[in-house]
Amino acid sequence: MSETVRALQLSAEERAMLIGEAGPGVAKAMEIVVALGRIYGAATLTPVASVQVSGVSYKNLGDAGLDFLEMWAAQGARVCVPATLNPAGMDLASWRDLGFPEVFAQRQQAVIAAYAALGIAPTCTCTPYLVGHVPLFGQHIAWAESSAVSYANSVLGARTNREGGPSALAAAISGRTACYGLHLDGNRQATVVIDVRCPIRSEADLGALGYLVGRQVENGVPYLRFRNGEPEHWALKTLGAAMAASGAVALYHIESVTPEARAGNVVRPDAGAMVIDNLSPGFEALDGACEEIDLVSLGCPHASLTELRTVAECLDGRRLRAALWITTARSTREAAEREGLVARIEAIGGRVVADTCMVVAPVAELGFRSMATNSAKMAFYAPSHSSLQVRFGPMEQCLEAAITGTWSPRRIL
Ligand code: F3S
Repeated sequence: MSETVRALQLSAEERAMLIGEAGPGVAKAMEIVVALGRIYGAATLTPVASVQVSGVSYKNLGDAGLDFLEMWAAQGARVCVPATLNPAGMDLASWRDLGFPEVFAQRQQAVIAAYAALGIAPTCTCTPYLVGHVPLFGQHIAWAESSAVSYANSVLGARTNREGGPSALAAAISGRTACYGLHLDGNRQATVVIDVRCPIRSEADLGALGYLVGRQVENGVPYLRFRNGEPEHWALKTLGAAMAASGAVALYHIESVTPEARAGNVVRPDAGAMVIDNLSPGFEALDGACEEIDLVSLGCPHASLTELRTVAECLDGRRLRAALWITTARSTREAAEREGLVARIEAIGGRVVADTCMVVAPVAELGFRSMATNSAKMAFYAPSHSSLQVRFGPMEQCLEAAITGTWSPRRIL
């Protein structure tokens, strides 16, 4: 037995759970949490206030993943803290209308049923913090989706490592996670200070910046100083998503903006320094070369009501040549429906698509070959995960592509 194995202390209740006194499902969850604690040298476990579970799309899970979930549910496992799901592989209500294959839909519904048996409702969003699941400052949580992890740690000041699908589910069932990494004060200090000297004019600029920072910093903690005006708050989800995609950044600080930066003393004395004064390398890496656009994808991370309002306003009275899918949480879609936004967007041919996203959906089977997006994360993953040619630019440029069916360097909206 190594030193780190001996270091993990369990309470009497946790030891009882581990040896099966709360049933085999809980014992399996504790085995996973304890194993991770030992691997990462945690001294204790910590209770979690909420969990966000990834591994929901059947495209990624496959039958082996579905069997694993069903077996765990059959062992009597149930979540014991508020838990939400990451996007599924399709819109759970409108999949047929949107063209998703029947066979895929049946398997996806089985995955959702397995999660329901474990006690998790099909929230299916990567922005749970936009739909009422908002962790408090300093709260320990166990979230899995990388962009949500980044937002929760950085913008909200909650504490989570980037969990995997099984480890997040184990935390939801046991109510605990191993206390290491970003749960600890010392690991939340910035490892590199980044002076951003170029202006940030759009969410795409912020995404390109996030891409460049993630590529440089990898799994470090950047502290960003914006010399030409701070980014708009609504777009911070885009920044974090990009950093987590090109690197493995799970926490960042922004001077005078994010809560731990405002509190001060958040930069390590030996932190490195970096200057970013040009976003072109980010755009060059993310933007492809295709001219014809089949699909315009907005809502990565999932769109807020404000973003849906912007789209509806920009497109009023226009006709679309390309498909336009705006992905969002179901409850956001319902709120947009009540405001008449869904009707306005869908009257001109756009779709407000709930529960899924274009990385975890079987996009190739839907017949799309090229995509325009305003999300650096989507532009980063879509070529490899969904075999799409991608153009990357601000929302206005993407909406213009939806109107014309082609990518234009000129913004006309
Ligand atoms: Fe969310 Fe999918 Fe983007 S999970 S962050 S919409 S790649």
